Amino acid sequence: MKNIAILLAAGSGSRMQMLEKKQFAKILGKPVIYYSLAAFEASPCIDQVIIVAEKEFFSFIKEQIIFKYNFKKVVMLTEGGKERFHSVWNGLQLLKDQSGYVFIHDSARPMIDEDIIRRNLEAVKEHGACVTGMPAKDTLKISDSDGFVESTPDRSHLWTIQTPQTFAVEIAYQAFNKLMESDATGITDDAMVVERMLGKPVKLVEGSYENIKITTSEDMLVARCFLENRELCE
Ligand code: CTP
Ligand code: MG
Repeated sequence: MKNIAILLAAGSGSRMQMLEKKQFAKILGKPVIYYSLAAFEASPCIDQVIIVAEKEFFSFIKEQIIFKYNFKKVVMLTEGGKERFHSVWNGLQLLKDQSGYVFIHDSARPMIDEDIIRRNLEAVKEHGACVTGMPAKDTLKISDSDGFVESTPDRSHLWTIQTPQTFAVEIAYQAFNKLMESDATGITDDAMVVERMLGKPVKLVEGSYENIKITTSEDMLVARCFLENRELCE
């Protein structure tokens, strides 16, 4: 029974409009992916890490990240797929018939911390499936196809979703296996796969407002600010 993190790093970062891929771009002298790896390496909740990346980056990841920073929990590098959920599936296939919990995490979220990991482990042990998020700060609206407001959902029930998203291995495996056999579209997170494919309740776990995903260029500045502040507090 092992707790395994699948760290996703196979995206192309098209919304960043930057030559270098965001997961390997440096903040405070270290690649963005370093910060998630360091959090998993230090966490007593995590036994092993699988990194999903494009094959052409394998040697860079090994030499410039794993060996350089002496990360001992990384057991495997596997190739990513076209969409994020393909990359997750590639990672999950390595866990077939294993027991334990799988923490699926975006390498583009460098602010993951031990409290978030621990809250995920506690929730997944109790519920089998959980997703990190925070109550929405902004009011959200649903638009119609002409760009008019269709409706305004009650904000008190809205959460913005982050990662990690954590599942009993067999639940994640079963849900993604079913997804691959279906023609489902519009899959934007992992919990959605469990919700749709298995109809299983997914528990919301508190993340942090700092646990942002680097998506567009200004997010690099914000992440740098948070990481600087963290260094100052250490
Ligand atoms: N990811 C992945 N495989 C994919 C797509 C995304 O492993 N086929 C990873 C990314 O590397 C990232 C995380 O999933 O760490 C979240 O995805 P996102 O923020 O959408 O990153 P990108 O897909 O790289 O960016 P974009 O959508 O702007 O192209
Ligand atoms: Mg993407």
